[in-house]
Amino acid sequence: MSGLERDALARVEETRERGGLADATCVVTGGSRGIGRAIATELGAAGADVVVNYRSSADRANAVAEAIDDAAEGEATAVRADVADPEAVESMATAVRERFGPVDVLVNNAGITVDTPFERMDRSDWQRVIETNLGGTFNCTNAFYEDIRDADAGRLINVGSVVGRRGNYGQTNYAASKSGLIGFTRSLALELAPHGSTVNCVAPGFTETEMLEVVREDVQEAIREDIPLDRFAAPEEVAAAVGFLAAPRASYVTGEIVNVNGGMYA
Ligand SMILES: NC(=O)c1ccc[n+]([C@@H]2O[C@H](COP(=O)([O-])OP(=O)(O)OC[C@H]3O[C@@H](n4cnc5c(N)ncnc54)[C@H](OP(=O)(O)O)[C@@H]3O)[C@@H](O)[C@H]2O)c1
Repeated sequence: MSGLERDALARVEETRERGGLADATCVVTGGSRGIGRAIATELGAAGADVVVNYRSSADRANAVAEAIDDAAEGEATAVRADVADPEAVESMATAVRERFGPVDVLVNNAGITVDTPFERMDRSDWQRVIETNLGGTFNCTNAFYEDIRDADAGRLINVGSVVGRRGNYGQTNYAASKSGLIGFTRSLALELAPHGSTVNCVAPGFTETEMLEVVREDVQEAIREDIPLDRFAAPEEVAAAVGFLAAPRASYVTGEIVNVNGGMYA
């Protein structure tokens, strides 16, 4: 083996060793079910301490945290906060720092849909979605900004959607919120780059969670026909991409929108 090949192998090994999250504290918003639960579990399995945020499903959030505690090295805890409420988010940030110290990784995953064609959409349908999906991302990023900026491997990961790129009938509010996350991700990536912290967005396609369950069966079937891989995603398949971006080894990926959508054009 040449010296050059040995150097290359040593660099690969070094990058692999930086793969874990054993020293990291991660906050996952909306971690009580669906994609957020899978993300929290993925980060816990990588050795991180995990904060499972939720809005109303206390039992389910506690169960997620207990499962991580039982199965993984790190500690996990559930913390209630409505991400759309800046004061609740600040209280969560204070409680998290008291328990774990500064946060390394924030995953802005919490999101809702209030679907209706625009001609029937009222201001409250618009505001609920924008204030949760986009406003919640602002509130949580704002509360943990300095932690992530100053962390050795600070990571901010926003959960967008294929709908943020393609649009979708009956989802002008949701699509606007998810498109907004793309601009937010790209802009904050530029601002945090000088500090060595990264900002990325994972944009799932249609994923088997309660959010999809409320969609009519015939509409689900029409969506499935449009997916080259011919099936919906499992939440764990989305979480795998988040796990990669959260890890120290993803140090040179920033401002990126990672599509996990079964090959849909986005
Ligand atoms: N499923 C899909 O097909 C799909 C596709 C693309 C993108 N996404 C995105 O992926 C993310 C997760 O979606 P999902 O399918 O896992 O949804 P889900 O099954 O409906 O779960 C939503 C999660 O968000 C939490 N949440 C909602 N509003 C909140 C608030 N104001 N404050 C704090 N937590 C809140 C919920 O907490 P509680 O349990 O306490 O209510 C729950 O943990 C969302 O951003 C969604 O837009 C989903």
